[in-house]
Amino acid sequence: MSDRPAITLRPATADDSEDLLAWRNDPLTRANSRSGEPVTHEAHAAWMSRVAADANRHVWIALEGEAKVGSTSALLHEDGSVEISLTVAPEERGRRLASVLVTGAVAEVKALWPDARIRSEIKEGNTASRKAFEACGFEQVEERDGLLHYDLKS
Ligand SMILES: CC(C)(COP(=O)(O)OP(=O)(O)OC[C@H]1O[C@@H](n2cnc3c(N)ncnc32)[C@H](O)[C@@H]1OP(=O)(O)O)[C@@H](O)C(=O)NCCC(=O)NCCS
Repeated sequence: MSDRPAITLRPATADDSEDLLAWRNDPLTRANSRSGEPVTHEAHAAWMSRVAADANRHVWIALEGEAKVGSTSALLHEDGSVEISLTVAPEERGRRLASVLVTGAVAEVKALWPDARIRSEIKEGNTASRKAFEACGFEQVEERDGLLHYDLKS
């Protein structure tokens, strides 16, 4: 992946709220999310507060230099698995950043929860996301209702 942009991840803060909401509500993110509905400012603010108080959920901002180029998140489920998700900022898409973000998220998750099964859920038609996770060692293990379940193979 040496030809890909270099990024760093840092935890998201309240100052990132507007960017995260804009990325969450952009049409492609909505089309690829389980609920396609736009998120309101109120619901987003409540979500940000919940995230800040939840040790089982982490949200990171991806930085290329000083520029915010996307976000990635990890959620520890009750079964001990950790689900990773990501969004590349709309104006940064198509630069092959997605697998760089996945790699960064996997490293963070392994540091937080070393023994967890790491997984992702991806809509069948989301080719860019599937390619990014596959490039990072994820394999499809299941398909349910148009949602593909991917696990990171050890
Ligand atoms: C999915 C998403 C993260 C991908 O990021 P991106 O910057 O657009 O994708 P990349 O440039 O990193 O490309 C990833 C791979 O998919 C390919 N690709 C990109 N767009 C594609 C498209 N529309 N159709 C098919 N392949 C595509 C790229 O060529 C690359 O493959 P390669 O490494 O073999 O060349 C981004 O589009 C996004 O944020 N979408 C909305 C939120 C979302 O869907 N998140 C994922 C939920 S699981």
